[in-house]
Amino acid sequence: MTEHSFRELFLARRPEGKRLDNCFTMREVAAQPLAGDEVLVENKWMSVDPYMYLRAIAADFAGEIYEIGDVPDAFCVGKVLESSSERFRAGDLVLSTFGWREGFVAPASAVNPLPPGFDIPPQAYLSVLGAPALTAWVGMTQLVALQPGQTIFISGAAGGVGIVACQLALRAGLRVIASAGSEQKCAWLAGLGDVRTLNYRETPDILTALRKIAPEGLDLYFDNVGGNHLEAAIEHAKPKAHFIECGMISSFVTGGDPASLRVDIRRVPSKSITLHGYTVSHYLHLYGVFIDDMREWIRDGGVRVPEAIFEGLQDAPRALESIFGGGHFGRTLVRLS
Ligand SMILES: NC(=O)c1ccc[n+]([C@@H]2O[C@H](COP(=O)([O-])OP(=O)(O)OC[C@H]3O[C@@H](n4cnc5c(N)ncnc54)[C@H](OP(=O)(O)O)[C@@H]3O)[C@@H](O)[C@H]2O)c1
Repeated sequence: MTEHSFRELFLARRPEGKRLDNCFTMREVAAQPLAGDEVLVENKWMSVDPYMYLRAIAADFAGEIYEIGDVPDAFCVGKVLESSSERFRAGDLVLSTFGWREGFVAPASAVNPLPPGFDIPPQAYLSVLGAPALTAWVGMTQLVALQPGQTIFISGAAGGVGIVACQLALRAGLRVIASAGSEQKCAWLAGLGDVRTLNYRETPDILTALRKIAPEGLDLYFDNVGGNHLEAAIEHAKPKAHFIECGMISSFVTGGDPASLRVDIRRVPSKSITLHGYTVSHYLHLYGVFIDDMREWIRDGGVRVPEAIFEGLQDAPRALESIFGGGHFGRTLVRLS
């Protein structure tokens, strides 16, 4: 076996506020020689996701947290350089979750081949077929029964989850109200079909905007944002509306104080609103069904995800910062050389 070493980024100090530039440090690690049934993988692409920020600040609702010295976990596509496993050969592309590192040695059972039957570039396995797309698919197909003609409000509509949620809603014949953070993002979303948009950065009063652009009221709300979007959606919901509670990113940087929600929560029972909260990790057994649906939808051009690509491992913290600053569109990815 050739000797290899790889760089990785570890959490050196916890973020305070949105700045991440001094929080992660690079180190070089020698790859251990392969034992039986192992692979040596060089990562080509890795994902950047909002939950990483929660784990880095050790938010008490994050589920898992990163300790100082930990390498953030991330979804990655990599190439097998060497293999002592019958399952993989040098040159195979694999999916893994070992995170912000340029390569690693792992048991073959800890990596997966790319799902077969797609004619897409490797990074698309992290975007249109990645965790955010799976998250949108679970919310839209497993938690609620969509009916043509319904009106759905989708916040965070220009992010990795929201952009897929919009397209799944349109495929099901719904009318979409999409909230995104720039005119350019709103124009792209409006180009998808029956989509009315609001630029939340220019809209101090979301409820008034909703009343204007969706006077019929909301049958459904796909919530990526929480805060003022959730407050407005509760106020503007029709009786028996369904809310898909996916995430509340507007509260991440402030530490996520739930008491900051300014809405009369009694509207939930008085309007018979159903809140469907979920975390995608509870639905991973449905990955194969998701892949089958996406195979058909990608083939007929019905679902596409723009990618915001950052270059090199050292750029990963800046990519994570961009999630809160609006400097990305679609799925945020890092290309590794
Ligand atoms: N339930 C689950 O299992 C699960 C899984 C994955 C993600 N999530 C959640 O889903 C949400 C979206 O994740 P993602 O992967 O799509 O992230 P993403 O690709 O990074 O997109 C984040 C989106 O959030 C918007 N945003 C950021 N700060 C905001 C604020 N203060 N107010 C309004 N919008 C804001 C951004 O809008 P602009 O860029 O347009 O400004 C961006 O489109 C997050 O809340 C995340 O935690 C949940």
